[in-house]
Amino acid sequence: MCGIVGYAGWQNAKSVLLEGLKKLEYRGYDSAGMALMLSGDLKIFKGAGEICDLEDKINLDSKECSFGIGHTRWATHGRPSDENAHPHCSCCNKIAIVHNGIIENYQHLRGWLEESGHRFLSETDTEVLVHLVEHYYTGNLMESMRRALALVEGSYALLAVSSWEEGHLVCARKDSPLVIGLGEQENFIASDIPALLSHTRRVYILDDGEMAAVTSSGVKIYNMRGESVDKDIFEIGWDAVEAERGGYPHFMLKEIMEQPQAVRETLRGRLDADTGRVKLSELKFTPAEIQSIEKIHIVACGTAYHAGLVGKYILEKKLQLPVEVDLASEFRYREPLLAPRDLVVAISQSGETADTLAALRLARDKGVRVLAITNVVGSTLSREANDVLFTWAGPEIAVASTKAYLTQLVTLYLLALDFAVARERITSEESAELGRNLSFLPDKIEELLSTNSLNKMQTYAQKLARSENAFFIGRNLDFAVAMEGSLKLKEISYIHAEAHAAGELKHGTLALITEGVPVIALATQQHVLEKTISNVQEVKARDADILILTMTGNDHVEKHAHEVIYLPAINDFFTPILTAVPLQLISYYAAEIRGCSIDKPRNLAKSVTVE
Ligand code: G6P
Repeated sequence: MCGIVGYAGWQNAKSVLLEGLKKLEYRGYDSAGMALMLSGDLKIFKGAGEICDLEDKINLDSKECSFGIGHTRWATHGRPSDENAHPHCSCCNKIAIVHNGIIENYQHLRGWLEESGHRFLSETDTEVLVHLVEHYYTGNLMESMRRALALVEGSYALLAVSSWEEGHLVCARKDSPLVIGLGEQENFIASDIPALLSHTRRVYILDDGEMAAVTSSGVKIYNMRGESVDKDIFEIGWDAVEAERGGYPHFMLKEIMEQPQAVRETLRGRLDADTGRVKLSELKFTPAEIQSIEKIHIVACGTAYHAGLVGKYILEKKLQLPVEVDLASEFRYREPLLAPRDLVVAISQSGETADTLAALRLARDKGVRVLAITNVVGSTLSREANDVLFTWAGPEIAVASTKAYLTQLVTLYLLALDFAVARERITSEESAELGRNLSFLPDKIEELLSTNSLNKMQTYAQKLARSENAFFIGRNLDFAVAMEGSLKLKEISYIHAEAHAAGELKHGTLALITEGVPVIALATQQHVLEKTISNVQEVKARDADILILTMTGNDHVEKHAHEVIYLPAINDFFTPILTAVPLQLISYYAAEIRGCSIDKPRNLAKSVTVE
């Protein structure tokens, strides 16, 4: 979390850095700051609050200033305050640093530095870095940074400047992402690609243990031993317009509306719509390797974990293999039982989530093959996994994930069909029939996004917005999607929401159902439809306010609900891809009515690069 940017070039650095920080605001937004170099002096502007507050604080004529660093913070060590905002400065005020990550041994280092006479002004872990660099400084920022980092335990993407070395930016990476954008007589550094898109699509992606010296005229990359490293330039496929709001009031709404296209892109080249044939040619598995898989472990966090829950149902069903789904933060510390013929599937929109990366590394250390499903080409996950399936959702900026989730589901379906044929668990005719259903999905999502359905969702959202609690229930695939529906609602509208397997209600949660409590029942799975409706009756008997999501044709459910949203007809197996959409929109509208900060919910950040 936290976003960092750096600039060395000929443009007004203040404007370039502010623009970059705004693009990275989804990584954290409780404080912001900037260090600009002006006439040989470091000028620091920072404080608690959002980037627009920072803009007001920069009261200097910055036209001459074409070099600096910036930061947007998501607090880990030390509450959001002016003192804890980055950049942090050395005692001599000649060196400034911005940092994303966590310095784990900072207390020990701080004690030692304080004893050596350094004065600390903040409660952050980051501040030890700048004092360490100052401690070792003998005229070469890069060298002092290298010596400082040799003592540091933890994760970092960091950027340093010194007024003794005007025009030089020094950056380093370990376990937190960092990219260097290449321009004409100007160069950029940022935590993430969207911050660079309006300037360049040519980048270096730093690897762990690499440092770089960046000036307006060049970039030199080194390893931690100080040896020069040759790297390939990476061309980014996204364009700047994709990362703009494009007239929508929020990125989240734009990204929901983009879903038909995102799904089309994810299917493109992998599914022949006429024959229904699925071919994942980017995978390096031989048929024998697919056949020899004995167990699948899905690991992920947040919304990606919920995609994994759907994945368990569909992969188990079509491959007849045991599938476990784990939160990456649990998997990494529970000594999971992994066997050589197991496959780990790591799902992550960003490809940079710390816990998911740790789970991948754990599996790889045990010699287990890892297949990544990620949205970001060049991300750490995509580079460290044995195989990668990209979700072609385009940049997702809103903190609450929508189009990435839907494309993760689509990718899991593609994987299930591809592997099921290779394992001879389904015939190619059956696979073709399922594949054809998959190809109908973009149009069906479009249908769901039509004005008619939106009105119903808005109406229900009005009721929901007045409530402080809500419950989502469903069975089988519907339960997996209910988990995501509940997360969407709580993260952006701050309404307390819980998801339960419908059959489990009576084992405790039913005690919370009282008059008027919203219950959203997902009832798309025909084989358990009547069972789910029995559970709906249980909450109806307690006067809950019920919304049912079901398939067109199930009119008989109407008498049990206050509102019904009908989903376009599709094979039961694929309903999660449709059900998720109204749940996203209902949450969006409820949050809008409640006046919440939809794209940047309180306390959250999009890319969780710390444990
Ligand atoms: C954060 C975001 C979620 C996301 C999760 C995992 O919590 O707010 O939207 O689902 O991280 O992120 P990843 O990039 O690994 O999918």
